[in-house]
Amino acid sequence: MSTEATVNWEETVPTTQEIEQKKPKIGEQAQAQLVQRIKRLLIEQNAVLVAHYYTDPILQQLADETGGSVSDSLEMARFGKASTANKIIVAGVRFMGETAKILSPEKTVLMPDLEATCSLDLGCSAEDFIPFCDAHPDHTVVVYANTSAKVKARADWVVTSGIATKVIKHLASEGKKILWAPDRHLGKYIQSVTNADMLLWQASCIVHDEFKADALLALKEKHPDAKILVHPESPYTVVEMADVVGSTTQLIDAVKNMPEQIFIVATDNRIFYKMQQDAPNKILIEAPTGGVGATCTMCAHCSWMAMNTLQGILDVLEKGTNEVTVEEGVRLKAFESTQRLLDFAAKQ
Ligand code: 13P
Ligand code: SF4
Repeated sequence: MSTEATVNWEETVPTTQEIEQKKPKIGEQAQAQLVQRIKRLLIEQNAVLVAHYYTDPILQQLADETGGSVSDSLEMARFGKASTANKIIVAGVRFMGETAKILSPEKTVLMPDLEATCSLDLGCSAEDFIPFCDAHPDHTVVVYANTSAKVKARADWVVTSGIATKVIKHLASEGKKILWAPDRHLGKYIQSVTNADMLLWQASCIVHDEFKADALLALKEKHPDAKILVHPESPYTVVEMADVVGSTTQLIDAVKNMPEQIFIVATDNRIFYKMQQDAPNKILIEAPTGGVGATCTMCAHCSWMAMNTLQGILDVLEKGTNEVTVEEGVRLKAFESTQRLLDFAAKQ
């Protein structure tokens, strides 16, 4: 059975440039007014904004200023669950909103744009994935958080990039064979670190896939003192060149805590906002997404993350639209595999 998804979604993916061009251009004053209206509504509705590091810095700032959270996908899940707010506004992509709902069914979860998805989620449909799992009943099914609720519901474990290696090491120490999905690069990286017996689904992140090892090598030659930081969704040839491989939070911590001054960063470039905030004197260089003659469609910024806007947040707060729902039977099963992640993380 093939591990490739059969749905042909690639042709419909908007480029980041297209998404950015569609956004209405607003002046500083109008933007400040939007921010004020959102702040007031967040308080009135006992709502909290949870934003991923890849979203527009203006949204990250707003989440910080209003007692929300700016974080990686593991912390987004934890924060939403622990929050006492009635309503969670998730600025990120669809699986992040679904994870919030899976863990907090009593809360209303809204997203600025429900079309904001992820190539890993699209590349691993439940229709393809469930029979694949059924064909390998002797394997423990571990899925990355970047999947639909239905895929999580079929899994034994959900993991995020921040904790995947530890979970797989733990399972391998119990002699388990692993069926891993959907990111093939992350799977290969984990396999190289843990030596676990892993069967890999073959999807990938459309953004990180564009980082190029040959161009990175040329860049490193120009900046020999720079340290290379890589998110493990990148191709293995890029991962092999890294001084640090880690989740978004782990890469931010590396910039903050390492003594070096210059960093080449292979992940979505909106992360530079937090890195620069935490380490204002360090120099950050974007890892190349195209070698000689190559082009990029994402150009180091996820087009789906780019769909999150201030106007979108205001609209959902004013109109109550874009609610994330998960069918209860699916949610209950997905809760088990996702809660297993949180329980494991709490013991680390
Ligand atoms: P993190 O869990 O590292 O934040 O990654 C989420 C993601 O979508 C990376 O592309
Ligand atoms: Fe998905 Fe990649 Fe975008 Fe992260 S950056 S949400 S993995 S497409």
